[in-house]
Amino acid sequence: MSDGLLIRGAPAQEIVNGTCLPDDHESELQSLRPQRIDDYIGQREVVDSLKIAIQAAVFRGEPLEHVLFHGPPGLGKTTLAHIIAREMGGRLTVTSGPALEKGGDLIGILTHLEEGDILFIDEIHRMTKAVEEFLYPAMEDFAVDFVFDKGIHARSHRYRLNRFTLVGATTRVGLLSAPLRDRFGLFRNLDFYSAENLVDIIKRSASILDISINNDSASSLAHRSRGTPRIVNRLLKRVRDFAQVRGDGHINQELVQAALALEGVDEKGLTGLDRRYLKTIIDYYHGGPVGIEAIAATLQEEADTLVDVVEPFLLKIGLVMRTSSGRKASEAAYRHLGYSVQEKLF
Ligand code: ADE
Repeated sequence: MSDGLLIRGAPAQEIVNGTCLPDDHESELQSLRPQRIDDYIGQREVVDSLKIAIQAAVFRGEPLEHVLFHGPPGLGKTTLAHIIAREMGGRLTVTSGPALEKGGDLIGILTHLEEGDILFIDEIHRMTKAVEEFLYPAMEDFAVDFVFDKGIHARSHRYRLNRFTLVGATTRVGLLSAPLRDRFGLFRNLDFYSAENLVDIIKRSASILDISINNDSASSLAHRSRGTPRIVNRLLKRVRDFAQVRGDGHINQELVQAALALEGVDEKGLTGLDRRYLKTIIDYYHGGPVGIEAIAATLQEEADTLVDVVEPFLLKIGLVMRTSSGRKASEAAYRHLGYSVQEKLF
């Protein structure tokens, strides 16, 4: 790292649910991920606090404290877990809350961790209570407690683990129990990216993918990517396809407009699902307030998808409001969808 962080060990090795992933099997989207913390664009405060914590842990020769990242999908939680492993020189093991069905699933993973390894648990809010309880002593004392027999014959045996770092990620920080939350030393929210940061990400990705794109096109792509690097990189590839088939390979404004129209992405970056969500509130529920379950039933979508994926950005740009009696469409939402605000009154 440019500001003096020492890197220990070989590049991080990844283990996904017990399977080792060699670098040359990385998908193209993964290869757009920054590998080192200095290559990471945006989330300045999060990155700065991570740099300090990593540098201090390396200096002391200790594992990094457990880290929790929370925020909407696609903002870099997984990428940061990969970066932490690489910067700390440890192996990365990846799992998720729903994949850990029984306490035994987690114990199997914990007992295979080596000193300094990183364990990444995605969707950590979806772990069961039973699994979560095995995690407490593992996080606090690097130990797991096995209980044999029941009632008055119950005996417990403590098994020591190697010291590791847990990196948890969640889209729903409010669903984490207080005891789990309190065991993380670093607790950081990832917010939507500014258009300037997204332009920088587009330029970096375009150079990796050998794509030619001018500033205006990068800016219009950035403004239509819901503040989200994962979306910006996906759309960049769709626009590249369009430029190669319909143009001379060079990306210009018209190609961006045409490619995004084909993807159903509008001027504010809303997708078909975003617009259907807003139209449901307006057309079926007179603009709200309406409960999320009612919207989900009308749309035939999971309420969790709406809460995790659709709503955060619509709330951020003020198209929807969350009140104690339910969701309401704002006047800006009426205007964006081409309704007159007069219609809202009636
Ligand atoms: N690609 C995806 N997210 C990125 C980020 N935050 N910085 C640099 N490149 C990225």
